[in-house]
Amino acid sequence: MTTYDARFRVWRGDAEGGDLRDFTVEVHDGEVVLDIVHRLQATQAPDLAVRWNCKAGKCGSCSAEINGRPRLMCMTRMSVFDRTETVTITPLRAFPVVRDLVTDVSFNYEKARSVPAFVPPAGLAPGEYRMQQVDVERSQEFRKCIECFLCQDTCHVVRDHEENKPAFAGPRFLMRVAELDMHPLDAAEETGLDRKRTAQEEHGLGYCNITKCCTEVCPEGIKITDNALIPLKERAVDRKYDPLVWLGTRIRRRSASDPR
Ligand code: SF4
Ligand code: SF4
Ligand code: FES
Repeated sequence: MTTYDARFRVWRGDAEGGDLRDFTVEVHDGEVVLDIVHRLQATQAPDLAVRWNCKAGKCGSCSAEINGRPRLMCMTRMSVFDRTETVTITPLRAFPVVRDLVTDVSFNYEKARSVPAFVPPAGLAPGEYRMQQVDVERSQEFRKCIECFLCQDTCHVVRDHEENKPAFAGPRFLMRVAELDMHPLDAAEETGLDRKRTAQEEHGLGYCNITKCCTEVCPEGIKITDNALIPLKERAVDRKYDPLVWLGTRIRRRSASDPR
């Protein structure tokens, strides 16, 4: 086994402020950045705060920024860096710091709660649902999400614009709206819930200018922009400019204002 000493710069601090600290840590063959953070805790910085669980790219907890790029620490091999390079590890920039590499991601849980759940079709019990395989596969791609929030962190709409957060759900949750809107069995419309309208008016779909940065950082390889956000935009526009929908809205408005 070969080992070498690598230089790391790690952000240390809390909500009040902090700075980058330099460390030299031993690296072994085959290790990932999370191994190094653990060795740093074990040998030099026992109070370094870091969140992780599975070390297998499945729990979504070890998200951080490595050399400025949002990544999972457990899925980033040390071999991708030059041995002479200083590897800088900082907390996710779009969310408030709790301590060191741990951020408060509750913004994402609030947005998750703002998306109404699947509405089961009337008259069918679970087990009686039937879908085309193509529809199953579309949902399954989105269901691979591990909620690491790297896409949420990287999206420029909120990354440097805290003021946009109330109006923008972010790629992960717009993808959830898209998944439900494209679900052939979702009966939301029958209950008066127009997911296309809520995507625009409540979840800020219009803020997304399809830069695809979210797709680039997704560790599950989900094509967030191409398969969820762009189709959702197309569906929302189709709905807005559909002449039958337009006529229906006018008639509904007129009957609401005419008491006869
Ligand atoms: S494609 Fe849209 S949601 Fe994704 S990073 Fe760009 S602006 Fe944000
Ligand atoms: S869509 Fe991808 S990047 Fe976004 S939270 Fe899910 S797994 Fe993470
Ligand atoms: S520790 Fe679970 S995804 Fe990295």
